[in-house]
Amino acid sequence: MNNLKQNITSIARKTAIALLVVTSVSGSALAAGGSIEGAPEPAHIDWSWAGVFGTFDRAQLQRGYQVYKEVCANCHAMDLVKFRNLSEPGGPEFSEAAVKALAAEYEIEDGPDAEGEMFMRPREPKDAMPAPFANNNAAKSSNGGALPPDLSLIAKARGHFSFKDMFMGRDGLTGGSNYLYNLLLGYEDEVPEYILAHDEHTNEMGKEADPNFTEEHFELGDSNFNNFFEGYKIAMAQPLDDDYVEYTDGTVATLEQQAEDVASFLIWAAEPKMEIRKSIGIKVLLYLIILAGLMYAVKRRIWENVRH
Ligand code: HEC
Repeated sequence: MNNLKQNITSIARKTAIALLVVTSVSGSALAAGGSIEGAPEPAHIDWSWAGVFGTFDRAQLQRGYQVYKEVCANCHAMDLVKFRNLSEPGGPEFSEAAVKALAAEYEIEDGPDAEGEMFMRPREPKDAMPAPFANNNAAKSSNGGALPPDLSLIAKARGHFSFKDMFMGRDGLTGGSNYLYNLLLGYEDEVPEYILAHDEHTNEMGKEADPNFTEEHFELGDSNFNNFFEGYKIAMAQPLDDDYVEYTDGTVATLEQQAEDVASFLIWAAEPKMEIRKSIGIKVLLYLIILAGLMYAVKRRIWENVRH
């Protein structure tokens, strides 16, 4: 019996240590910002969907789609998102009629017909969102050689997973949203002082200059400076500013509002089942708590009359 007890205690201890380790390791997608002296701190948004009980704000997702459609879709595809997803539960939840109309704004090649010819027809809810370029080469040549990545999963690709953040009600499941938000707001017209100071500082210390921080490196040419992009030089020019879209729901379209809306939309696109997953998770936890209580009662009952 003692042996069993010891084993159980040791397993419990190991599990607790493992949990502690997991919860305290939380990487950050905000690689560049804040990492050198004087760099601006990235903003952290109180996302409606953050935390264990968080859900998406439908109106926000609908606005986010509008920003994607009117601005980002000129360069970025979202291959994995179908129009019908826009009306499914847990997402923007446009009405089915609205989704039909949204899809029909674009055409797609279909066929062959009875004569063997391919033909164009309006898109339907089952079709994917249209890509702005025929292929990657066309996309690159229109963007000075840089490829605008597909945005379907970008929020995950730039995110991290952190139990700790999730339980603290923060952006724990898909930390990419804060990165996306900061990226969209992180542009500077000129290379900021803190970058140049970093170079001077290393020179003063008599260390070899970091080739990534010299003035020559920051002659931007066709690229742009962004405080939160890794390496700071990004081929995408600032894609948003105040009033780039006129929201159909009357919300004032500040730069911050549009960035928050489109970042939420991109989180939903990468995590379309987030709400369902969370609600199942909560039910499972409740079930386990009740089961644990019952098991404890049973154990007490069984051992009631046994000396141990
Ligand atoms: C005029 C074309 C253009 C538009 C419009 C545009 N982008 Fe981009 N975007 C690019 C290009 C080109 C890159 C690749 C940048 C690079 O690799 O330096 C890029 C890269 C990105 C990245 C990846 C950054 C990373 O960490 O690698 C994200 C995220 C992004 N864009 C989001 C958006 C969003 C959101 C919008 C709409 C608000 C948007 N873009 C509008 C051209 C565009």
